[in-house]
Amino acid sequence: MGYNIAIVGATGNVGNEMLKILDERQFDVDKIAALASRRSLGTKVSFGDKTLKTQDLDTFDFAGWDIALFAVGSDATRKYAPIAAKAGCLVIDNSSLYRYDPMVPLIVPEVNADAIEGYKNKMIIANPNCSTAQMVVALKPLHDRATIKRVVVSTYQSVSGAGKEGMDELWDQTKAIYNPVDNKTYTKFTKQIAFNVIPHIDVFMEDGTTKEEWKMVAETKKIIDPKIKITATCVRVPVFVGHSEAINIEFEDFLDVDEARDILREAPGIMVIDKLEDGGYVTPIECVGDYATFISRIRQDSTIDNGINLWCVSDNLRKGAALNAVQIAEVYVNRILSKR
Ligand SMILES: NC(=O)c1ccc[n+]([C@@H]2O[C@H](COP(=O)([O-])OP(=O)(O)OC[C@H]3O[C@@H](n4cnc5c(N)ncnc54)[C@H](OP(=O)(O)O)[C@@H]3O)[C@@H](O)[C@H]2O)c1
Repeated sequence: MGYNIAIVGATGNVGNEMLKILDERQFDVDKIAALASRRSLGTKVSFGDKTLKTQDLDTFDFAGWDIALFAVGSDATRKYAPIAAKAGCLVIDNSSLYRYDPMVPLIVPEVNADAIEGYKNKMIIANPNCSTAQMVVALKPLHDRATIKRVVVSTYQSVSGAGKEGMDELWDQTKAIYNPVDNKTYTKFTKQIAFNVIPHIDVFMEDGTTKEEWKMVAETKKIIDPKIKITATCVRVPVFVGHSEAINIEFEDFLDVDEARDILREAPGIMVIDKLEDGGYVTPIECVGDYATFISRIRQDSTIDNGINLWCVSDNLRKGAALNAVQIAEVYVNRILSKR
């Protein structure tokens, strides 16, 4: 007997990747349901060699379903996640709605899989922000060895992080540069994204940071260690898929760069590609469709006593969202459901 899995937001970027990843990893699926808004009723989505017709989330009955992987944004999550949870279906949510709720575990399985036990509180588990997920995979093994004091991170985030409309906007603007049209509209991004970069993701906070930057701070503290100090600058770049991060880490203890490289090579979920030669590092286009968080450009920061710089790249739709959610579902099945 397999498990009954509902994909909530199956017509979106993340939902689509969830369907692919469940199939790739041969998740033990008995029944699968593809759910979206009424607008998409009957839309076909693929699951392996099967075609699923999208059902209306609003009328779906979650009773008898084991896990719902949610990728619909906070407003729809606020309305439907409690309904699924009340029906006994574990919600694994990709929106930011529950991430900071102390009763809801925020999990990256390579880092804090043991937090799964907290599922009992609300039958909801939160998936972190895409930029946080790949960063904590890189930070945790280094923190275990040398205790991180402070992190300074700058992100280079792809437009797919803003949903399918974000990808369309980059595509349309790029075409319009070669083939000018009169009515240029910026609906998803505040300024032109084609051939440009925008130092603004999500809303501004009172202190001048953005919510995306705040999320990286709050989530890293919740997942790894509240004592880590972290400051972030989040930037949207004209890349379709794959987020990159330049990360500067200050440790309590000295950590030699060769030892850091060895630790990262052994760590789960990480692939080190770090050759001191032209092209001996990973760029976002090369990480698309992959599971790993890629680490390159590992080097000592000689301006502080115990500092290291590195470059971190991952597929934001996978490790940053769909893959991480499926990995959480695997932990739930292996540690909880299969023991019943
Ligand atoms: N993209 C990333 O890198 C990333 C990373 C981490 C977390 N997330 C989070 O994951 C969620 C989904 O992101 P995405 O990139 O997949 O967005 P997306 O491509 O815009 O897709 C949104 C999905 O949600 C559905 N939806 C929206 N409102 C709905 C409603 N009221 N009822 C039912 N279905 C509704 C849409 O269905 P229709 O097609 O019917 O409109 C669609 O399937 C968001 O919370 C996002 O913040 C995304």
